Amino acid sequence: MTSTPAATLPILIQGGMGIGVSSWKLAQEVSRKGQLGVVSGTAIDAVIARRLQDGDISGDVRRALTHFPNQEIAQLIIDRYYIEGGRDSKVPYIDVPKLSLRPTSFAVELLVVSTFVEVWLAKEGHSGLVGMNILEKIQMAIPFQLFGAILADVDYILIGAGIPAQIPFALDLLQKGKPVAMRVDVADTNEKSILKFDPSTITGISYPLKRPKFLAIVSSHALVSYLNKDDETKPDGYIIEYHVAGGHNAPPRKKDAIDGNGEAIYSELDSPNLDKIIATGSDFWLAGGFGTPEKLKEALSLGACGIQVGSLFALSNESGFTKNLKVDAINHLMDGSIHVTTDATASPTGFPFKVIENEDSLSVRDNFEKRIRVCDLGYLRTPFKRESGSIGYRCPAEPQSNFVFKHGHIEQSHNAKCLCNALMADIGLGQIRPNGSTEMPLVTIGSDLEGPRRLLQMHPQGWSAAEAVTFLLN
Ligand SMILES: Cc1cc2nc3c(=O)[nH]c(=O)nc-3n(C[C@H](O)[C@H](O)[C@H](O)COP(=O)(O)O)c2cc1C
Repeated sequence: MTSTPAATLPILIQGGMGIGVSSWKLAQEVSRKGQLGVVSGTAIDAVIARRLQDGDISGDVRRALTHFPNQEIAQLIIDRYYIEGGRDSKVPYIDVPKLSLRPTSFAVELLVVSTFVEVWLAKEGHSGLVGMNILEKIQMAIPFQLFGAILADVDYILIGAGIPAQIPFALDLLQKGKPVAMRVDVADTNEKSILKFDPSTITGISYPLKRPKFLAIVSSHALVSYLNKDDETKPDGYIIEYHVAGGHNAPPRKKDAIDGNGEAIYSELDSPNLDKIIATGSDFWLAGGFGTPEKLKEALSLGACGIQVGSLFALSNESGFTKNLKVDAINHLMDGSIHVTTDATASPTGFPFKVIENEDSLSVRDNFEKRIRVCDLGYLRTPFKRESGSIGYRCPAEPQSNFVFKHGHIEQSHNAKCLCNALMADIGLGQIRPNGSTEMPLVTIGSDLEGPRRLLQMHPQGWSAAEAVTFLLN
């Protein structure tokens, strides 16, 4: 077995930001600067399928596909999605298969290949480290995405938004080409369904492959102790994320800690106990409001290996956010009017989600209410058990009558935003609807924006990922 040498532990990790904000271009820039560049694997099958339908004008996706070890499968994906010259912009994108416990072979292959493509591109042409980030909550994609990333020689896997206890053992098996059977939660029960994947169904691969390191993203020392208890669950290190971080945040420990504006309220109870984490001897990085050189210094003095930074890179030139969204956020940052909330109920996952208030996005109640609910991407659907005992899938952001029919609790759906469609819109891949409209974005960013404010003073026209790395390391 080969593995990434310990000596190459990075000081700086560029956070994995979905969907497609941590694109291969962003990750590659950071890796080239000697730090850990991370791609987001979230919904990457839809991202790659849509890039192909938009004509893959740069040829990057097709170049990466020529390196996939099984060319028959690569060709199937080109045949299904590639449109030479790009689709007519008024024509909707065609769907990718929804995640499920019994995926078709095409659905599996698309997930494996798309993850391979994004990691392969991030690693192309240099010898720096590359990681892939996914969410534990999107359980029905995990084994296929881990395998796709391993095939592309990924150095690190980073997973949060849940308890990633099954990952280390799954990596051990997949690296050797052995089948995995992963437990998937069934809503409202303590039962688990089993999701199986046998890598030998994808032929043309020589084993063993490199086993990447695994970093669990957590917000409490209790979770560190829990995962460290068993070699099968113990990660190679931890990202300790504070609640000011962009994206999803761990729910407050106090019950019903929501204010009158629907924001999650955090207290002392939500601060991880670093002394207890240090006592475990595990490597760890600090994230959430650590995006300045002074905070890096502080993290190192507290015993961390370094920091993970998101917001600073989300606003950089190479991130996947559309130019308009970046310019808008930067303008509001400049005039001091940027407003970030921790919306306790916007995300169908049930985790608080950081949102920038922006009048052209779903953050405005009116825009949210005008949107006709449709669940056509479905990454946040969870399995539930019907009376018959069979398994169905539901999401709080789907049409409310469907959700309630599937025994979902109506109160979970009132403010639930379709993050799948909104986050695709954030990176310019929003779906076209029958009335000709395009899905609206919903933008997330951290609530501690000291780093971006200072970089903006140094680079009023915006900054590159390389400039962000230089700023942090100086
Ligand atoms: C736009 C955006 C999207 C994010 N998406 C994810 C994600 O998909 N998975 C994840 O683990 N963390 C996600 N994060 C969190 C970052 O990876 C990182 O841990 C965090 O941003 C660090 O805090 P900072 O924003 O204060 O630098 C996201 C952050 C941002 C700003």
